[in-house]
This record gives sequence, structure tokens and C-alpha cells, in this order.
Amino acid sequence: MAVKEKTIWERFLAPVFSLLIDEKELQRYSQSVDWEAESQKFRRGDVEIPAYYSTQNFHGVERGYLNSGSAVSYDAITQYVTPPNETWVRQELIDEIKIAQPRRILDLGCGTGSTTLMLKQAFPQAEVIGLDLSPYMLVRASHKAAESNTDIAWRHGNAEKTGFQEASFDVVTATLLFHETPVEVSESVLKEAFRLLVPGGQVLILDGNQKRLREQTWLSDIFEEPYIREYGKGSVDAVMGVAGFKEVRTEDIWFVHQLTNGVKPLPVNDTATLNNLATQNSVFTTPTVDDNGIQGYSSPTV
Ligand SMILES: C[S@@+](CC[C@H](N)C(=O)[O-])C[C@H]1O[C@@H](n2cnc3c(N)ncnc32)[C@H](O)[C@@H]1O
Repeated sequence: MAVKEKTIWERFLAPVFSLLIDEKELQRYSQSVDWEAESQKFRRGDVEIPAYYSTQNFHGVERGYLNSGSAVSYDAITQYVTPPNETWVRQELIDEIKIAQPRRILDLGCGTGSTTLMLKQAFPQAEVIGLDLSPYMLVRASHKAAESNTDIAWRHGNAEKTGFQEASFDVVTATLLFHETPVEVSESVLKEAFRLLVPGGQVLILDGNQKRLREQTWLSDIFEEPYIREYGKGSVDAVMGVAGFKEVRTEDIWFVHQLTNGVKPLPVNDTATLNNLATQNSVFTTPTVDDNGIQGYSSPTV
């Protein structure tokens, strides 16, 4: 009988992380939550789970994010895989938002909401929505928001097809999402981001540094990440251009991460928007937003 060879994750990293993280505390938290009941508050019947997502293990967790164990251990592990400091790395994305007063911000693949929370703290006047395919990650995110008394709407959904009205967001972000998806999924997520943004709106993608992943192939081998090799071979920059974004720019963040930034161009003859730009120091007009039920959508955290 063939014996499945253990991954590097199973052989080396899992034992190291078990020394670094407070497993008892995680277990206590995990047992304090009725995951099935709480996740029901988020689950939407119309969300189809794609095969790339449901058939793979991520970080050694069977069925990946469709297992509540992922939501429990995610933050404890992520702090050690976002050097030199997780908050500094995420802050680089926040600092790159050039729109002074964004009204609606969407964080795609928000996970446990670490970036989403920082977005709301940086722009308290904005309506901030975190969207994820995993109802368990949303449960964890909602607990964090409740602990910090932060008002965020958590939404179960697929970043490729969110169902939100077009031109209804000023800023769309995704952190640590693209290295976890096949390239064609990243392409559709960026097309969806383009559709969702108002003209002049900004998209920001923070993730692993593709140049480093190509140079240092061992980086792709150490984590149990099914799509990281194809992510490393690609170019978020190029995909953003294909989606229609302009002013696309990728910069290295702390050597192992990268931040790609793009703007949805204004229509050439959009004088109303250009006038607004001049008078209000804002790139936005006030579009009529069909909020797809999000406005006044009471977050389970409040
Ligand atoms: C590595 S985690 C990143 C979470 C969070 N953005 C962060 O920075 O910590 C990737 C997240 O993307 C979510 N995800 C993957 N594919 C998705 C998709 N097509 N639509 C929405 N969420 C997705 C997963 O459920 C998971 O929570």
C-alpha cells in the first residue's frame, strides 16, 4: 500500500507552530463557540462553493477554510508568516489609500477580518464590508469586531461574483487572497473589483512577493498552499491591467510581500466627476447606490 509522503508543513512547521502558539487558549476559544449555530447567521443559500476551494487542504487543515479549525488557528499562525510584523505589513495597504473620505470599502476574502478592522479604524465614517466564502472565518471576524466595538458588515460570498451593484464602492481591497486561488480566479476577482468600483476608485492587493517566490522556490514549498506556485509565476500587475485598471503599480513591502495598486479610470468626458474632483478634493461623484441589501444590513456583531 502506498504511504502518502508527509508535507514539509506536517514534518516541520506544524511542530514548530505548536510550540509558538497557545494551543490551550485556542482550544478554549474553539470550545466556547457553537460553530454550526453561529455560522448559520452568515450562510447564504445562494453562495456556491467553488471546487478549487472545497477540495483542497490549506495550511495542513483538512478542507481548509470549510473547517472551523482554520478560523481558530488562522490569526495565531498568520502573525508568524507576515514578517517583520503583521500589523505593519497590513498598515502599508491602509497608508496607500489616497481617497480622503471613502464612503464604502469592500474587503474581499476578508478571513478573520484583520485588515477589515484596520480599514474601519482608519476610515470610521465609511461603511466597511468584509466578504468571505467561509462562514467560519466570518464568525471569528465578527467576534473580533465585537471585542473592539467596531461596526463592520460581514458578508458570505464569492469575491468573483459578489452580487453587489456596479460602481457601488470607493475602495476594494484583498489581502493574502491571491496566493490561495488559481490564476483564473484572481483574474475574475479583479474584473469584479473593476465592476464594483466607481470611476476613480482604488483597488489594493496585498500578498506574497511574486518576484521573491520565483527566486526562492523553497518559499513555495514550506506552506501547504495548493496554488502558491502558479501565483508566484504570475503577475498581479499584468492581470490588473487586463481588468482595465490604470496607474497600476506594484511595490515590495518588507522584501517578502508586495502591494499592487490600481485606479479605475474616469470616463474621458466625465466633466461632472472632474468638477467634483476640483471642488471637493475627492475623486467621487455621489452615485446612486443599490446596496444589494447591505445598507442598514445589521451586522451580527451589533
Ligand atoms: C489567507 S486568507 C486571508 C484572510 C485575510 N484577508 C487576511 O489578510 O488575513 C484567504 C481567505 O480568502 C478566502 N477566500 C478564498 N477564495 C475566496 C473567494 N473566491 N471569495 C471569497 N473569499 C475567498 C478564504 O476563505 C480565506 O478566508
